[in-house]
Amino acid sequence: MIIVGNFKEYLSRFEDVDNVARVVGRIKTKHEIILAPSFAHLGIIASRKGIKHIAAQDISIFDAGAHTGEVSGATLQNIGATHVIVGHSERREQGEDDHIVATKIQQALRSNLKVILCIGERERDPHGGYLAFLSEQITSALGGVSEKDYKNILIAYEPIWAIGKNADSAITGESLEETVLYIRKILKERVDEKAFAHIKILYGGSVSAINIANLVVPHIEGFLVGRASTHPDSLKELLNALDS
Ligand code: PGA
Repeated sequence: MIIVGNFKEYLSRFEDVDNVARVVGRIKTKHEIILAPSFAHLGIIASRKGIKHIAAQDISIFDAGAHTGEVSGATLQNIGATHVIVGHSERREQGEDDHIVATKIQQALRSNLKVILCIGERERDPHGGYLAFLSEQITSALGGVSEKDYKNILIAYEPIWAIGKNADSAITGESLEETVLYIRKILKERVDEKAFAHIKILYGGSVSAINIANLVVPHIEGFLVGRASTHPDSLKELLNALDS
């Protein structure tokens, strides 16, 4: 399984970030752990012993130049990032539209960064309109991605209604399985068999030690974890629950 720890803006003290990184650096696990600290902590965490995978939480749409506050793909690559989260709902809320998401994916791939593309509906309507919404998000984000690049794309299905809640509010295993099948169908219609075989789908939204085992359903290859990844104990508990 792939576990992405998205620290969001939770940890302001470097010591707190480093405490999680130390655990990840030392832990013996078969799972691939990708930490996503803030830009400010990225470089130093990437240089910590035992940290193999590190994600930025965002990337600039520009290559370089007069863009105050932006961090380019080249910069992220240079400081040791291996992945970048693109299209997180909390960024989309700040005005990031499908076109910006697609541009950021291109920037990441050009800088040899793997993309963790977040998609997810705000709410579920009884008529299944949210499925068309997911299809549109996938199509617009990946429209410009060449088949050879699909091996560098992870899709994180994160229904907005399930993010940042307690474990009871996460999706059920049954409903997750159905949605993942739908996402795979959309992808299968768009890419050739070889590219399709590379695609990995993660789930995110209130994942913790309490519910993670129930969310291991066919074709889910990992989890994007927010709050439960921000403390060494909750991260360790989550990894234990995954293996139990
Ligand atoms: P959460 O966040 O685990 O705190 O719900 C997940 C995410 O938004 O990536």
